[in-house]
Amino acid sequence: MNTAMAKLIEKIGRRAARISVIGLGYVGLNVSVSFANEGFKVHGFDVDKKKISSLENGVNYIPEERYLARVLPKVLGKKFIPSIEVEKASLLGDVVIIIVPTANGDVPTLTYLEKALKSVIRNDISGKFIIIESTVKVGTTDEFVVPILEKSGLTAGEDFFVAYSPERIDPGNPDKTLKSIPKIVSGINSESAEIAAELYEKIVSKVVLVSSMRTAEFVKLMENSQRDVNIALMNMFALMCEKSGIDVEEALFAASTKWNFHPYKASCGVGGHCLKKDPLLLAKSFENSDLDLGLIYSARKLNDSMPPLTAEKAAAICREKLGKDVAEAKFGILGLTYKKNSSDARNAPAQFIMERLGEIGAKRISAYDPLIRDSPINGSLMDVLKSDIVIMTVAHDAFKGVFDTFAGYVVDGTNTLEPSERVIGVGRGFAQEGVEQDEGNGFEKCGQDVPQRFRESAVE
Ligand SMILES: NC(=O)c1ccc[n+]([C@@H]2O[C@H](COP(=O)([O-])OP(=O)(O)OC[C@H]3O[C@@H](n4cnc5c(N)ncnc54)[C@H](O)[C@@H]3O)[C@@H](O)[C@H]2O)c1
Repeated sequence: MNTAMAKLIEKIGRRAARISVIGLGYVGLNVSVSFANEGFKVHGFDVDKKKISSLENGVNYIPEERYLARVLPKVLGKKFIPSIEVEKASLLGDVVIIIVPTANGDVPTLTYLEKALKSVIRNDISGKFIIIESTVKVGTTDEFVVPILEKSGLTAGEDFFVAYSPERIDPGNPDKTLKSIPKIVSGINSESAEIAAELYEKIVSKVVLVSSMRTAEFVKLMENSQRDVNIALMNMFALMCEKSGIDVEEALFAASTKWNFHPYKASCGVGGHCLKKDPLLLAKSFENSDLDLGLIYSARKLNDSMPPLTAEKAAAICREKLGKDVAEAKFGILGLTYKKNSSDARNAPAQFIMERLGEIGAKRISAYDPLIRDSPINGSLMDVLKSDIVIMTVAHDAFKGVFDTFAGYVVDGTNTLEPSERVIGVGRGFAQEGVEQDEGNGFEKCGQDVPQRFRESAVE
């Protein structure tokens, strides 16, 4: 063990290693607060002045996350110091963790990562430990990150340490905390990997060490691509059900009585910062190979078609059930985030549903989401419930019971509500024109209770 490594490990053991986190978004704020809560001094940096001044004023901008709501007030200003001065990250930290975005919309980009790395090399990084957590294409840490860091004139793995450890948190899900999710860890060499493991063991219950940074990058992309492809398959099943009058939830319930059938959920779309870009990053990683990557692109295309199809379904209901022209009808959108109980609105299906509604002539659209602040399109629940048709895009807990007295039509993009004449899900309750609705609709007819998991939203 070289001296720098021994020193770092010893400091980590005493929780005396200072940690800088660059990027205080959904992941970075969580990571910062987790280390601070374990006794580490954490300096958190972000280029977003609003985020930093919010923290300086003691305001948590992700209040729906229970862990943050509980722990941030305890550590803020004490063990956790936020700052806009990103160039000080490598000066103040023995360890610098970078967790910046790696896409604009769904278009992957390394611009943010590059800027963050350039801030890091503004100070002497000898003996420091640089960790990348952002999701990246396979090979990025070796081929993009390390060359930038080595512009410092130092050698990675010898003069400073480098690790890659993808993040797997699940915002909005109180059952899956950062602590409870096993952490994949890798390093440029065994020393770096070992220090990373020592460090992360302080905040997570299990560290999974893999043999190379490329493997760790690949693992993250595999996980999200697997989800995306499986959700696409479910969405395709749902569209088939709409063509045949079969209820997709009933079919999924029945199919999942087979031990090796995995019931992912059909929905009105896949959004967020991750699932829309990670499969593309995986495909890009192999674009120069002779592999046929069509499966990944087809899944992306299918999932991206769900929001416009949902809008078109609402328009069809409007014409066929209400006998109204799309331009006359009032449409309501319930839920503007991409995920249940999260305030993250990036690439949310709602945005694409509204776009399509506009394209096909809807003139009166209102939207509401209690978790969204500062959005010009966010109106009131009362206004949404005055609509002829409400499209529910995400099943926030706050929406429980909202339709109890609603007399219009509901397009349930989450397949959470019980379908009925007026509640139409994805792949359930509404057959295309000319298709007879399957009379068997309803679990009760099978003499079974609907399992809880089928009642939960899986809009990702
Ligand atoms: N959100 C998730 O659920 C999740 C889960 C796993 C992995 N990830 C990955 O983690 C990474 C970050 O995602 P996120 O959701 O936290 O993004 P985010 O947009 O919520 O947060 C990133 C933060 O980085 C800041 N930033 C950008 N450039 C910067 C720079 N040069 N210096 C300092 N700050 C900078 C932004 O202002 C922003 O606050 C992405 O690669 C994402 O794919 C996200």
